[in-house]
Amino acid sequence: MITVAIDGLFAPALEGGLPRDALDAVCDELRHAHRELMSRRDADVGFYDVPTQSEVLRAVHAEVTRLRSLADDLIVLGIGGSSMGGQAILAAFEPTLDRSFRVHFVDNVDPDTLGGLLERLEPPRTAVIAVTKSGETVETLAQLLILRRWLRVTLGQGEMRARMTFVTDPAKGLLHELAQQEGIRSFAIPANVGGRYSVLTPVGLLPAAFAGVDVDALLAGGAAMVERVTADELTDNPACTLAAGAVLAQQRLGRQALVYMPYSDALRHTGQWFVQLWAESLGKRQNRLGQEVRAGQIPIAAVGATDQHAQLQLFVDGPPVFAVLLLDVATGRAKLPVPDELSDRPEVGFLHGRDLAEVLAAERRATRAALLDAGTPVIDLRLERLDAATLGGLFVLLEAACACTGIVMGINPFDQPGVEVGKRMALGLLGKPGYEGERERLVAREAKTPGR
Ligand code: PA5
Repeated sequence: MITVAIDGLFAPALEGGLPRDALDAVCDELRHAHRELMSRRDADVGFYDVPTQSEVLRAVHAEVTRLRSLADDLIVLGIGGSSMGGQAILAAFEPTLDRSFRVHFVDNVDPDTLGGLLERLEPPRTAVIAVTKSGETVETLAQLLILRRWLRVTLGQGEMRARMTFVTDPAKGLLHELAQQEGIRSFAIPANVGGRYSVLTPVGLLPAAFAGVDVDALLAGGAAMVERVTADELTDNPACTLAAGAVLAQQRLGRQALVYMPYSDALRHTGQWFVQLWAESLGKRQNRLGQEVRAGQIPIAAVGATDQHAQLQLFVDGPPVFAVLLLDVATGRAKLPVPDELSDRPEVGFLHGRDLAEVLAAERRATRAALLDAGTPVIDLRLERLDAATLGGLFVLLEAACACTGIVMGINPFDQPGVEVGKRMALGLLGKPGYEGERERLVAREAKTPGR
């Protein structure tokens, strides 16, 4: 169970906080946004329906059984939304996983990383999943060419194909075509699910299942959260509550930045995933009417208690632009009592017999109070415990809240036009036919900036 509370935006909890009736002012906008998203569910907004696709789950299990019979190491190629969700799932459960099946995410074109990995792995015991919805992302395609050759020179064409699985658009793109031509197994990312909303599709499920994560529970938790975030009654809908918090923090309290701060190492990597979701979905030059608005809310990843000794000073005393999403994992932590070492020393004597989870909880409560005292708004997310079902629910909650926030902001939370410009220029620079204009623009721009 996950709950969301936004009391930390209002007086008297928040120093200088909003009056309670400020919420009424955004309720109509939230209701409209929610209705719009629900009406688009059967059309271009597909992420709500991903967790209930049981035939996909069956196919994922079958494919993972096959891949595990061939390999102990799985390399996952992809970037952005085609990688970060899987990384977040695996990082959450890494300490509990059976390490006989290892997953390596390659989400960059840094030759030191990929080159080093290929030196360590053995082709006969390695499989590869290539994830690109568009089938056009140059970073992923460059990685793919390297992996194809690496497998083929040692094992031959047939074994190379057997060790490859694609996750891509169901109807178009290079990977879709290659899968057809070469008989490579391929999974679909539904056409109406964008990369950063795709964690509960085979994009995240295949690597998670290979590593041994309980993907059935992950999806069941996602499906249970879908029930809650599609509820029409706003007060029962945690995504609308979270969106209300984000919108009020920005529009009424001037909070241009939203810090995502779980008090949990397991959730550390969900911070990177959240940053991508919030940044790429909400950072838009134009609203949906084509007017220039320069919208967005700057997402920042932090971890409690670690970042109390790094970023918290800024959130408390720096410019008044931050709101903080504090995540608490309430139960289910490992038991680790602090022993009565140095029991005669007053500096540490008070810790004896306390569990480390109690220390972490005290740190969170103290930080929350310090933020509120300083006038920094807080949104509280409480996870009853951290298991696969709760993580599935957390993904759906944050996706739904992000979509709702974007619609209230008046922008399109499902596109990323700003990223496309840079992508095209890189293709021009690398010599892809048809991108000569982009190359010329880039060269002209660089001519104005000596010393690049
Ligand atoms: O969220 C998104 O849509 C992006 O981050 C994409 O996932 C990223 O650009 C990779 O795209 P593709 O899956 O087409 O390779």
